[in-house]
Amino acid sequence: MAARSDAAAHGSLFWLCTVCFLFVCVNTLEQATYIYSRMDLFDIGMSCRSDITADFHRTNNIPEDIARPPGSPWIVFGPVKQRRRRRERKQKRGCHAGLLARLRKRPHRPPLPSLFLANARSIVHKMEELEVLLAANTNVRDCCVMIITESWLHSRIPDAAVQLPGRSTHRYDRNSASGKSRGGGLCVYIHNDWCMDSRVTHTHCSPYLEVMSIMCRPFYLPRELTGVIINTVYIPPDANASIALDHLQSLINKQQRSHPDGVHIVAGDFNHACLKNVLPKFVQYVRCTTRGKNTLDRVYSNLKHAYRAVPLPHLGLSDHLSLLLIPAYTPLRSKTKPVVKYIRTWPEGALSLLQDCFEHTVWDIFEQSNLEEHTEAVLSYIKFCTDTVTVEKRIRVYPNQKPWMTTAVRSLLNSRDTAFRSGDAAQYSMARANLRRGIKAAKEDYKGKVEVNLAHNKHVETLKANSAR
Ligand SMILES: *[C@@H]1O[C@H](CO)[C@@H](O)[C@H](O)[C@H]1NC(C)=O
Repeated sequence: MAARSDAAAHGSLFWLCTVCFLFVCVNTLEQATYIYSRMDLFDIGMSCRSDITADFHRTNNIPEDIARPPGSPWIVFGPVKQRRRRRERKQKRGCHAGLLARLRKRPHRPPLPSLFLANARSIVHKMEELEVLLAANTNVRDCCVMIITESWLHSRIPDAAVQLPGRSTHRYDRNSASGKSRGGGLCVYIHNDWCMDSRVTHTHCSPYLEVMSIMCRPFYLPRELTGVIINTVYIPPDANASIALDHLQSLINKQQRSHPDGVHIVAGDFNHACLKNVLPKFVQYVRCTTRGKNTLDRVYSNLKHAYRAVPLPHLGLSDHLSLLLIPAYTPLRSKTKPVVKYIRTWPEGALSLLQDCFEHTVWDIFEQSNLEEHTEAVLSYIKFCTDTVTVEKRIRVYPNQKPWMTTAVRSLLNSRDTAFRSGDAAQYSMARANLRRGIKAAKEDYKGKVEVNLAHNKHVETLKANSAR
């Protein structure tokens, strides 16, 4: 009874302190003169909490799992739950979630470039509008690549008239090869914070097609991708689509052969042409209509789930909607967990140790009449010896790791970093050269291995074919 009243007193104290946050309270039962601090009261409350609830449940004949019966005299705590903190949560929720939030967090380090695509119908007359848009819309301002079709630029308009601050400009004006005197033209702005190394690799102008290809090597790109190739396209409405698509197909096939691990983006005003007819593996991302009831401006890429297209208001009095393409690609490193593997390494001198061990073994003790048992005993003994001289190591293999990245390359990389930190210029330059040579050799090695494997497969196949005959 005394214990219960004691507990009840503590409980009421705790209730008071948690609800009212009283700083000082006097315990009348035991020590009338003792003044408790706030922390003391919290400590008492926390230590008595389970006693109080258990006591309450026992006296009232209530099962433990009912947290708070109506009219209960105390705050009855359920089992203590650890709340997961937000920063531990990998999947963001609410306004922190979504592709746009992800892009805003790292506007110039997205997995793929964010794109702005618009059919301007004379960019010179829309420069003010464009600047206002850049000032007002954060997503457009931080956009990595801005693609303008129908720029209507010609040689008498200087570059300075169409430049935007902080961006490099690539323009390709319509020329006489198009058979028309004006209109058309392509213009691409690349944000300098995303990429400083961009160059035009191909241009083509004909009555059927205008295209400009730009190769970008941005500061950041997921390791599994080697570069970004952006093809901007304008197909006039009166063009013969099959001729235009033929040209595009051969161009993109060539690019894919030379950059098999690159991102190939094809964006622009396609009018009536459909790139999927010639390149079925490419994915189109624009779902909304961009002019009247038609989707004329389209963006294709060789990656699945690469973008999500969001419509933006028209640029000036242009009759095409503008588009913002938000990258939706998840890099391989975040998509797949690293694999843990156990490997055996042979430390220095392990081989001679093993030889010694075998030399001093009396092999006769394995002698048995059953040959199978004999073999098994010997083999398990050999395995045991090998296990004792070698060392097991736990390694993690990352999904985006290059297959030629060997221990040798890694140690060269480490020594390069050590040399860099030491500040010794001569040593550093030597380490850098060594690393370059090491990487080259490792790649060469890997190539050799793959070739041997292929040759072996071929050999096996011919053997199989011969035996089948
Ligand atoms: C487009 O060009 C191809 C090949 O030159 C031709 O066979 C086809 O008839 C043309 N289509 C139109 C609509 O002119």
